[in-house]
Amino acid sequence: MRVISIVNYKGGVGKTTLTANIGAQIAAWGKRVLLLDLDPQASLTFSFYRPEQWRAALADNRTIKQWFEAWRMDGPVPPFAPLITSPAVVNSRIAQGSGALDLIASHLSLGDVEMNLAARLGGAQAHRSTRHYFDVYLRLAAGLATLPSTAYDLVLLDCPPNFGVITRAAVAASDQLLIPARPDELSTLGIEHLQSRLRRFIWEFNRIVDLQSDLHPAVKKLEPIILGVVFTMVQYYSGKPIAALRPYIAQTRQLGLPVFEAMVRESNHHFAGAARTQLPVILSDQVTPALAWELHRLVEEFLKRIRTPAP
Ligand SMILES: Nc1ncnc2c1ncn2[C@@H]1O[C@H](COP(=O)(O)OP(=O)(O)OP(=O)(O)O)[C@@H](O)[C@H]1O
Ligand SMILES: [Mg+2]
Repeated sequence: MRVISIVNYKGGVGKTTLTANIGAQIAAWGKRVLLLDLDPQASLTFSFYRPEQWRAALADNRTIKQWFEAWRMDGPVPPFAPLITSPAVVNSRIAQGSGALDLIASHLSLGDVEMNLAARLGGAQAHRSTRHYFDVYLRLAAGLATLPSTAYDLVLLDCPPNFGVITRAAVAASDQLLIPARPDELSTLGIEHLQSRLRRFIWEFNRIVDLQSDLHPAVKKLEPIILGVVFTMVQYYSGKPIAALRPYIAQTRQLGLPVFEAMVRESNHHFAGAARTQLPVILSDQVTPALAWELHRLVEEFLKRIRTPAP
């Protein structure tokens, strides 16, 4: 079971759209995929359920918020299994074979959980209480570990647009990270900042592991691999990103991060309809051959990179 977080603290860069499309396509190709919506905006959840369905069937007891609330520090880890849902529309599109796309939904008041977790960490005192530190940051990893290791081929965690406690817990639960970005000045600056925040968090976490080498059970050091930056909402002209965007793409390569060859074009027309149909563009009838080709190339590159990540 490979766990990948889709992360960028910058908002509106295509995290959720990529999570939904990559997950749906890989499921359509016969794999078992679990999506976890960690954003209080719940856009991923609303990509697969209408708000009234969410309110009636999920909001009160089948979202990640209730799972966090059921957590007791010295008790058993609440299982993920009862939260898992199988969105009907997208699964009816996924060929009958072995593939499936499951979802753990989010909640509009997941922000309260974030605040409670931050309070538990105790702000600047974080390092003083190792127990609380690992209790908070390893929570999602512990939740995933309640699933049989063969339950899913791939788990995608859609992170909120911040680098808060829940995003960091997602990073700590991940084998690999995917960074969607727009090719513009602010996004490029943002990637550099994200990279340094990621490094700092991983360094801090691993340092605390070192200092507490007698922990039971032993805590493993973090070493998530950055799969790469995927540029989204790219404007094309004659089949290439327009000239104005190219310096930003080049700049990102200079940061030493892998950059996906495949990109996603900007198409308001195609991406805006996804929430209405509960079907990611990649599996919908509206997709044009050019866009389908582009998205397939991206998912193929994603699969190649998760098998052989660039150093
Ligand atoms: N390639 C694209 N072309 C045009 N619009 C897009 C594209 N990809 C996503 N969008 C639209 O842009 C908006 C933001 O996308 P999305 O929600 O995926 O970003 P996000 O990074 O998850 O945002 P947030 O940070 O708020 O969670 C959505 O309305 C989505 O439909
Ligand atoms: Mg999002």
